[in-house]
Amino acid sequence: MNNPTLLSGIQPSGKLMIGNYLGVVKQWVTMQDEYNCLFPLVDLHAITVRQDPKLLRQRSYEFLSLYIACGLNPKKSTIFVQSHVPQHAQFSWILNCFTYMGELNRMTQFKDKSQKHASNINAGLYSYPVLMAADILLYQSDLVPVGEDQKQHLELCRNLAQRLNHEYATEEKPLLKMPDPYIPPKTSGGRIMALQDPTVKMSKSDTNEQNVIFLLDDPKTIEKKIKRCVTDSGSEITYDEKTKPGIANLLTIYSLITQQNIDEIVQSYQGKGYGYLKVDLAEALIEHLRPLQEKQKQLISDKAELDKILTRGAKAAQELAQKTLDTIHQKIGFI
Ligand code: TYM
Repeated sequence: MNNPTLLSGIQPSGKLMIGNYLGVVKQWVTMQDEYNCLFPLVDLHAITVRQDPKLLRQRSYEFLSLYIACGLNPKKSTIFVQSHVPQHAQFSWILNCFTYMGELNRMTQFKDKSQKHASNINAGLYSYPVLMAADILLYQSDLVPVGEDQKQHLELCRNLAQRLNHEYATEEKPLLKMPDPYIPPKTSGGRIMALQDPTVKMSKSDTNEQNVIFLLDDPKTIEKKIKRCVTDSGSEITYDEKTKPGIANLLTIYSLITQQNIDEIVQSYQGKGYGYLKVDLAEALIEHLRPLQEKQKQLISDKAELDKILTRGAKAAQELAQKTLDTIHQKIGFI
C-alpha cells in the first residue's frame, strides 16, 4: 500500500469529550481510507500528571471502545497503546539528547500545566513534547491531525526531524520524514471552547465538568450543561468570536454536528433568542451521540475482543517503529 502515513494520539486522561471528537476523531474517521493510520492511546504522556491506576486502565479501554464507536476501523487502522510499544520511550531518550532546554522552556503547554500541577512539575512534563515527536517520527508520518493547542509541539517535532536529518541523513539513506500538521480552522473544530468560559479551550481534564460535554454524557446532563452555558450580552444570534465568543462556540458545535454551514444556521435563527439555539443544539447533540453511546456499551462489554485489537495493533506498530529505530541506532553509532 502506498498511501501516506497519518498518526495522531490522545491521552487517556479525563473522559473523551466533544472537543477531541470534533477537533480530531471525526476528522480521522474520514481520513482512514486515504492514509495508513496509526492511533496510539498515549498513556506514557498521561502519567506526566498523576493518574489513578484503576481509572487509567478503565479509561484506556473506554477510549478504545469510543474510537471504534465513533467509526475508527481497527481492521483498517492501527490502534494501539503507546506503552505497549517500547520503541517510543527508547527513541524519546535519543531525541531528548538533541533537544535544547531553551526550546522546551518556550512550550506554553508546559507553562500552563506547571501552574495547574504546581506540586508535581516533573521532568516528564517538561520533556513531554519530545516523546510526542518520537511518536510521530518513529512511523515516518506524513500527516498529523491535531487541535490548535498542539501547534507548538508540532513545530518542535519538525525542528527535531530537521536537526537529525541535517546531522545524519544522506541522499541514498534519508532518515526521518518531515511531518505536516493538519489543524482544522476554528469553525471546523480546531478549537472548541469551554461552555462556562468560552475564552478558554474545552479540556477533558477540566475539574469543572459544566465546561465540557463528554461523549458518554446522558441526555439530561447534556440538556442541563447546554442550557446553563455562558452566553453573551445581547440576544441576537450572530457569529462573532470577539464580541460573542459563547454564541460563536455554540454555532460552531451545532454546525459540525448537523453539517450545516454557520451562515445558514444564523439565518434560520433570525429574530429568535439564544434559548432556541440552546434547545436545538442540546437535542442535536443528544441524537448525534445516542447511537455512538449504544455501540460503545456493546464494545466495552467484550474486553477480550478489545485486548485482541490492542495486541494486533502493538505488533504492527512495533514492526514499523523498530525499522526507524534500527536506522537511528546505526547512524548514531550504537553497536
Ligand atoms: P490531548 O489528549 O490533550 O488531546 C487530543 C487531541 O484533541 C485535540 N483537542 C481539541 N481540539 C479541539 N478543541 C478542543 N477543545 C480540544 N482539546 C483537545 C488536541 O489538540 C489533540 O489533537 N499531546 C497530545 C497527544 C499526543 C499526540 C501525539 C498527538 C501525544 N503524541 C502525536 C498527535 C501526535 C495531547 O495532549 O492531546
